Amino acid sequence: MDQNIQIHDKLFKLFIPSEYIQDEVQSIADKLMVDYADKNPIFLVVLNGAFMFAADLLKHYTDSCDITFTKLSSYVGTTSVGKVTKQMDILINVSNRHVIIVEDIVDTGLTIEALKLNLFELNPASVEICTLLFKPEAFKGTESPKYQGFVIPNKFVLGYGLDYDERGRNLKDLYQLKE
Ligand code: XMP
Ligand code: MG
Repeated sequence: MDQNIQIHDKLFKLFIPSEYIQDEVQSIADKLMVDYADKNPIFLVVLNGAFMFAADLLKHYTDSCDITFTKLSSYVGTTSVGKVTKQMDILINVSNRHVIIVEDIVDTGLTIEALKLNLFELNPASVEICTLLFKPEAFKGTESPKYQGFVIPNKFVLGYGLDYDERGRNLKDLYQLKE
């Protein structure tokens, strides 16, 4: 397998192969199945990046649940612009429901902080974050995500739903920016 790929002007190297991702996704789903047994949670998937993670995760979450989507963005190119814009409203009644936010990556944490503030106004029973990737060195929030897949260094990654200016989302493996 080719270990390096070029996307637009940048070179990326293979970081986490698909087999490892799939094992991790299965184990996150197993944990959620235990913690949310009989709670009929709402999975709130943050588009666009989390679409692939959510699709795999929810195939393993075999109990009853609702699935809905929202769209936020804070990134331009390979850097967070620090300002979160909401591009799609939450179209489901979350009042008194257990909500699990599904994210591809928690970086600075600004996106989930903004989303949580929006959600709390809608009186959910609980809100937890489930993210495939977490960058603790970049994180500026107060509470780390409860469900984390891989804890990774503060370098730009792409693939498995994550993009560099819309490219690379369809890659089944994760790649990291090559210095
Ligand atoms: P924050 O900083 O708000 O960022 O926690 C979360 C959102 O920014 C995107 N993001 C990335 N996208 N490679 C990407 O392709 C990265 O390394 C990366 N870091 C953050 C992502 O959309 C996430 O939801
Ligand atoms: Mg995202």
